[in-house]
Amino acid sequence: MATIDQQQPAPHAPLHVAIVMDGNGRWAKRRGLPRQVGHPKGVDAIRRVVEAAPAQGVRWLTLYAFSTENWRRPAGEVAEVMRLLKLYVNSDLDKLTREGVKVRILGRRTGLPPDVAEIVERAERQTAHNDKFFLQVAFNYGGRADIADAARALAAEAAAGRLQPGDITEDLLQSRLSTAGIPDPDLVIRTSGEQRLSNFLLWETAYSEFVFQDVLWPDYGADYLRAAIEEFHKRERRYGGAVADDVLAAG
Ligand code: FPP
Repeated sequence: MATIDQQQPAPHAPLHVAIVMDGNGRWAKRRGLPRQVGHPKGVDAIRRVVEAAPAQGVRWLTLYAFSTENWRRPAGEVAEVMRLLKLYVNSDLDKLTREGVKVRILGRRTGLPPDVAEIVERAERQTAHNDKFFLQVAFNYGGRADIADAARALAAEAAAGRLQPGDITEDLLQSRLSTAGIPDPDLVIRTSGEQRLSNFLLWETAYSEFVFQDVLWPDYGADYLRAAIEEFHKRERRYGGAVADDVLAAG
């Protein structure tokens, strides 16, 4: 029998890490290049992180790629982000499929150009039966819009007589969000030194830990991810409860 000293530390539970990939524009500007030149470099960072995440105990990875507010950017930059999403799916989908990655796109489908909507559906269809790793890309996503859409869906069900207002619980509302079935993020990372949530996963981050890293997204990779996860493991999560030591002291 193993003595206490010989016991291994309990392995960490698989993590859901969500990332606000910020700083592509500044990365380009610092080099005297047009802002949108930063975005393809951002896609390279996405590849590095998707590659590194499973070995670091991450099972769900959610990336904020395009918000409902990002339509206000110059048309050329919006077109570039759309082009890069299509390019990424076209070039990486078969590899992701072989590696057991399930891809899901969070956010509103209406409003996406038809060719982008089509490719997003293909990515989801082709990987629907995978379950080794879960990659969510928030695209045309806004946390408030997602909650409003869920409320509207429940209201429609109530108006049709399939639901009573008293039936609406947190779990039921959650089941109508675009993140339905995905565990809440344990850790939210934002790069570039900004410290805001910017309408990302508003409902789902109620008890998430936040780590802000002073690195522009195109420079991100495995070592930064490891540092953020190490910082996360130092934190004590209480979910509204008391500190474990205080509970013991209170007897
Ligand atoms: C943030 O930098 C980055 C974005 C808003 C776009 C992220 C999109 C991609 C990397 C490409 C497409 C997505 C996929 C999934 C292939 P910023 O432009 O806000 O930078 P700034 O804050 O320095 O201006």
